[in-house]
Amino acid sequence: MAPVAIQPVTPMRPLSNFAARDVETLLHPTTNLLAHRSLGPLVFERGEGIYVYDATGKRYIEGLAGLWCTGLGYGNAELVEAAREQMERLSFSHLFGGRSHEPAIALAEKIKAMAPAETSKVFFTNSGSEANDTQIKIAWYYNNAMGRPKKKKIISRQKAYHGTTIASASLSGISVFHTDFDLPMARVFHTDCPHYGKYAEPGESEEDYASRLVGNLEALIEREGPETIAAFIAEPVMGAGGVLIPPKTYFEKVQAVLAKHDIAFIADEVICGFARTGNWWGSQTFAIKPSTVTMAKAITSAYVPMGALTVSEPVYQGLLEESGKQGMFAHGFTYSGHPLACAVALKTIEIYERIKIVEHVQRMAPIFALRLNALADHPLVAETRCVGLLGALELVKDKRTRQSFDSKLGVGAKAARFAEEEGLICRAVGGDNIGLCPPLVIDGAEINAMFDALTRALDRTEGWARQEGYLG
Ligand SMILES: Cc1ncc(COP(=O)(O)O)c(C=O)c1O
Repeated sequence: MAPVAIQPVTPMRPLSNFAARDVETLLHPTTNLLAHRSLGPLVFERGEGIYVYDATGKRYIEGLAGLWCTGLGYGNAELVEAAREQMERLSFSHLFGGRSHEPAIALAEKIKAMAPAETSKVFFTNSGSEANDTQIKIAWYYNNAMGRPKKKKIISRQKAYHGTTIASASLSGISVFHTDFDLPMARVFHTDCPHYGKYAEPGESEEDYASRLVGNLEALIEREGPETIAAFIAEPVMGAGGVLIPPKTYFEKVQAVLAKHDIAFIADEVICGFARTGNWWGSQTFAIKPSTVTMAKAITSAYVPMGALTVSEPVYQGLLEESGKQGMFAHGFTYSGHPLACAVALKTIEIYERIKIVEHVQRMAPIFALRLNALADHPLVAETRCVGLLGALELVKDKRTRQSFDSKLGVGAKAARFAEEEGLICRAVGGDNIGLCPPLVIDGAEINAMFDALTRALDRTEGWARQEGYLG
């Protein structure tokens, strides 16, 4: 293959010294590598509260909490101190071969007490992807232990996002994470994406739409054979797929079908967990009773990488038996339950509880919803969606017919760029949806400032789209 012509770096952002060094050295995750060469990086230097500052000193509201993760915002002195103390006392100890340490035990106890699934044990990872990988491995190992070697398939959903390792990227239902990576792997299936506003038939109620989707799910289960399906995985609210809120009765109907066919429900709470939707868990907000839960991100407010998953007593019993047979439960990471991550997670949860973060989110959610929903009148906006402090608006070419822009135009990305210029970090997700997920500690005035900036960005996007002749 002929090499792609490498353009000299002509950064559009005023960060030329960083731009040149960045482009020469970094392979960026989830980035258009070609576009990055001419666009250059946006380099951040520090953060405080809900704000981050770039290398020129410009201040931005971090409207996506980093990557849906910095629950307590930036510069929290208590978290810094908890990290420092732990590193001083015991900078590393692992959990392999039965070793342990107090922060891991205490954090497992805490998660066990608060998780929305019946939990016997907690397993730690470094990320959401690793935790979802582990979910699949445990499901397979457990079903082998139970003498059900055929019960291995996993059902996920189109537009789901569950990570980027081989297994978790397979669970993700976004084609760019599959194409030319030779994914998804075998035994992973994707059922419908539950986006009522986009995919419902004309005149179909939310309840009827949910029934139709769950009918399709059951048809898939019956086609494949329920005895071959181990688990169904779902985010309570799909995040990276576009912040898609499930239609009424959807999860109730999904759970009835899974129970009928003895299929486990893995709730991926990596974004929704720790108060994002106005309860500790998205599972509570949407009346989900999962078999197991994956969590990450806000568990440490993103000060340190960490993921975790819960294991029920019946599954634990299966693992016990199989590990006895095999000589060990041969899975884990050097940094599973790293003391630093555990200490920071414990302190993060302690702070969430002390400042009553759930109640705070419940108080802020109506302000967030009011400002977001007001943008539904904007000429570019087809739909607004939100729950708690998680929301999105969908940009379209024609508001009346809901015709999307050609994805190649990158209208969502352009709007996010205008927002950046207006001092707001947000992100185009699932096409031309602008996702918003500010630090949980944001206050009412800051929410208003965030939406003021977004409104200016949308107006500029409309002006630009009109000028380019992209509007209908
Ligand atoms: C719902 C969900 N699951 C899993 C992941 C993967 O987590 P990580 O990037 O920590 O591997 C993400 C990341 O955004 C996510 O949003």
